Amino acid sequence: MSNESNEIAKFQDPGLPEHVHRKTDVDPKAADRAERQVAILFILSALSTVLAIYSYIFIPDDKFFFLPIMGDTNAHQLFLGLGMAFALLFIGLGLVHWAKTLMPDTEVIAERHDFRSPDEDREDFVRTVKEQAAAAGLGRRSLIKRTLGLALGVSALTPLVLLRDLGPLPKKKLEKTSWKAGTRLVTDPGDRPIRPEDLEVGAVAQVLPELVPGKVRHLSDIAKDAVLLIRLRPNEFQLNAERLSWTHDGIIAFSKICSHMGCAVALYEQQTKHLLCPCHQSTFDVTRAAKVIFGPAARPLPQLAITVDADGFLVAQQPFNEPVGPSYWERSS
Ligand code: FES
Repeated sequence: MSNESNEIAKFQDPGLPEHVHRKTDVDPKAADRAERQVAILFILSALSTVLAIYSYIFIPDDKFFFLPIMGDTNAHQLFLGLGMAFALLFIGLGLVHWAKTLMPDTEVIAERHDFRSPDEDREDFVRTVKEQAAAAGLGRRSLIKRTLGLALGVSALTPLVLLRDLGPLPKKKLEKTSWKAGTRLVTDPGDRPIRPEDLEVGAVAQVLPELVPGKVRHLSDIAKDAVLLIRLRPNEFQLNAERLSWTHDGIIAFSKICSHMGCAVALYEQQTKHLLCPCHQSTFDVTRAAKVIFGPAARPLPQLAITVDADGFLVAQQPFNEPVGPSYWERSS
């Protein structure tokens, strides 16, 4: 701030204690040490981004392992999330450390202007910014400049890698759920097989397919397999003969995954016998095979045909009649 016409001026407020210089201001070795620390933080950020990208591409999204506090954990999502979080954390820590140890810490006051500043002031401003950038060591501290460029450059790759999510469409993958002919319906939570008499008229329950012994229930399976069981009086249905044969003693079963965008259809109005999706208010009429009567969903909820086995427990007659979840997956264009 050597130009006296510049209205931005450093000053020492007489009410403040005298300015104390940091160690890095007076000791070049301390400044170099701080520079290396900042560089290490930026390099750690870049490595974290590499971890995120590696997890995204190379760890299969159906690989799970057990963690004591989290239970079954998806390795793909865990390391992708940790990589991205640490990439941002280390960039943030590096910038803060840089600002605290190496950037100028003088007090500056800027006088206010009305609207557009005169050209002379604007030129002064540009000159001041350049001076401050030089004082911050951007030109001199090439190690920081290079490692910051590395961290930012590598982290910018992450959104590009995520473009991979745009395709290919899952196609057949979504069509397959764990429901098969003879699969028992079990309570969620509890994994207890259900008999028709466990459900009163007007009741609703969430169920899952019984686990095959030795298998683990993954979150991605629950997302596709969840079923809502609803019990009406048999004469309340308005179904054709085939659909009626998919019910048992007034109990009807639908996929819980909304056919609009995949939210959990979680609300049942007992009076109207409507199922509601809380996300965009799609409403499905239970008496008419979950026909859409309101909202953006384009097709009914897939129905699971049910019956009872020899022991009197509810079982599936066959897989869902249609793929579960958002219907846009099925569009060809
Ligand atoms: S996801 Fe259900 S209405 Fe949109």
